[in-house]
Amino acid sequence: MYSKITGTGSYLPEKILTNQDLENMVETSDDWIRTRTGITQRHIARDDQVASDLALYASQNAMKAAGISNKDIDLIIVATTTPDMIFPSTACILQNKLGIENCPAFDVQAVCSGFVYALATADMFVSSGKCRNALVVGTEIYSKIIDWNDRSTCVLFGDGAGAVILSQSNAPGILSTHLHASGSYSNVLSAPGSISGGKVQGDPYISMEGSTVFKFAVKVLEEVVQEAVSQNNLQAADIDWLVPHQANIRIIQSTAKKLGIPMDKVVVAVDKHGNTSAASIPLALDIAVRDGRIHPGQLVLLEGVGGGFTWGAVLLRW
Ligand code: UT7
Repeated sequence: MYSKITGTGSYLPEKILTNQDLENMVETSDDWIRTRTGITQRHIARDDQVASDLALYASQNAMKAAGISNKDIDLIIVATTTPDMIFPSTACILQNKLGIENCPAFDVQAVCSGFVYALATADMFVSSGKCRNALVVGTEIYSKIIDWNDRSTCVLFGDGAGAVILSQSNAPGILSTHLHASGSYSNVLSAPGSISGGKVQGDPYISMEGSTVFKFAVKVLEEVVQEAVSQNNLQAADIDWLVPHQANIRIIQSTAKKLGIPMDKVVVAVDKHGNTSAASIPLALDIAVRDGRIHPGQLVLLEGVGGGFTWGAVLLRW
């Protein structure tokens, strides 16, 4: 038995924050942001929106695309770094909002690799026959954990959600999944605050050594893509669509160049979304599916890297 993505969906909050808007908030320029990151705008959630609200719309769109109803979902996995609350999990809150009565529901915390981790986990449930239709979501509201006075991070991130339905299938589907982590890099990219005694202890905002993350990202993304294709006796040139984590256009271009994959086979959404962490891959995937770029039978590779460090890839036949 195999697992196959049978529907995708996404949701972006209405409010758009442009580079020009940011010029009025911190000492930065549209030119710096575009040339260093490729980002021109990002979406920002309303103050009263939480990650499960964004996830709800993305999930409903994915269920509609898959032609299934909430009664058909028997597993919910939510990848998020910005959960609604400490507990219950955002997956349980989403389950209730979707009106689903009883199925396993849990969150995965692997930062920007979260969706790849969640999809790999769902694949194990579905391909082993334990579940028929898994709802796998990446949803983030980074605008709540960004220091809007810190120009080195506030220009990079955005809010959004993406979702897929992973269903049982007689034909693949997901060909292989590849997950990695190295906790020795935990200080390089973190939001180190914690709650104790009713207060946030330590720095509650994102802190990042940007150039260290950049170099590490390009190195491990190339490695994990090579690992995925070689395990399937394929080559990078066989990939029809690379759907990378959307952090920085220069990371995406450098990885594609090292792999010898032309940019017209790479799905890019970072210009319009910024870095939406665990939501970025399913958001980009949904766009490329809905605009007709990704066709049945094509080879698609999803890859991401993020805080932890964590990184991984999912190779699949659409
Ligand atoms: O999702 C995974 C997590 N994150 C990432 O993948 C991000 C990975 N890193 C990056 O994308 C890039 O390293 C950044 C976009 C964060 C930074 O680009 P960079 O080319 O590595 O620039 P830099 O950090 O070396 O900074 C260059 C200069 C510095 O000034 P000095 O020291 O050269 O005078 C910064 O202070 O740019 C300055 N700078 C800015 N200037 C204008 C940093 N942020 C800004 C800004 N506007 N927003």
